[in-house]
Amino acid sequence: MPTEPQSPYLPFGENKHAAWFGKDIISVKQFNRADLEYIFGVAHEMRGMVERVGTFDLLKGKILANLFYEPSTRTSSSFTAAMERLGGSVIPINEVKYSSVTKGESLSDTVRTLECYADVIVLRHPETGSAAIAAKAARKPVINAGDGTGEHPTQALLDTFTIFEELGAGQVDGMTVTMLGDLKYGRTVHSLARLLSLFKVRLNYVSPDILKMPKEVMDEVGEKGIAQAEFSTLEKVLPETDVLYVTRVQKERFEDPADYEKVKSAYVIDPAIMQAAKQDMIVMHPLPRVTEISMDFDDDPRAAYFRQMEYGLYVRMALLAMVLGKA
Ligand code: ASP
Ligand code: CP
Repeated sequence: MPTEPQSPYLPFGENKHAAWFGKDIISVKQFNRADLEYIFGVAHEMRGMVERVGTFDLLKGKILANLFYEPSTRTSSSFTAAMERLGGSVIPINEVKYSSVTKGESLSDTVRTLECYADVIVLRHPETGSAAIAAKAARKPVINAGDGTGEHPTQALLDTFTIFEELGAGQVDGMTVTMLGDLKYGRTVHSLARLLSLFKVRLNYVSPDILKMPKEVMDEVGEKGIAQAEFSTLEKVLPETDVLYVTRVQKERFEDPADYEKVKSAYVIDPAIMQAAKQDMIVMHPLPRVTEISMDFDDDPRAAYFRQMEYGLYVRMALLAMVLGKA
């Protein structure tokens, strides 16, 4: 338990009646504005604790199973760091080929196995809907760390926290957010568009014709009364943009490699292009990047993508504490 003074945000301590105790985190559709304020309040406190004491014992004795069927650097290592900074420990299964998945074990049986040893399961899987299947099989909380082209809810939470921290929580209503790149296969933008529809934002979608935002997502966002517009080039919308959210073309999702070749270099953000943007805006990217943001832009103060990764640690600490009944 931390010895720091209690925060107005964060009632540290066991609370099995807390709203999020034992819950799965599968989709951003689970969250409302009050939930975001709560999560970001806890994340803010987690940041303060990491800066003051580094590691503390809020989740001492708790174990996380980190089950990754797809590659990951940030999500996997930030969940590990989050658990360890909270005093817990991690079973890492990053290479399922060395697990009994190779012997044909189903996802449901795999999570039923891991919950015998762990208190919470973080799952990344190539199939849309896999996190919901795992959550149905498991009694312990399952956190979706990316299900195919479906959702990446913890990324959208950290993205929204980034916008709050960088541009001010009170500024989100009225903002223009421009999503650029692979909006068809990019699960992060599917989650982020849905989550931002809780606010009075304007959403611009800039993509090649074959990589447009799915109709299903646009319909859901439209039902919330959010203004959305589609473009094939950035020029027109860049000057009005408060958040430019750049994505990687998701090579691994293409059925025809020739299609990938056609669109892989559709957009490149560089200092020359960014001259047309405001000074008080930010450029975000879930990362990894390939060529869509030039490294020449990294030193620009508007380049928020490295800071964005750090915010992810605090949001994931908050989520683990919440589902384990400690926040
Ligand atoms: N890392 C993010 C994801 O897993 C974005 C990307 O891979 O391009 O969805
Ligand atoms: N942003 C993200 O999910 O990164 P990884 O694929 O490296 O986990």
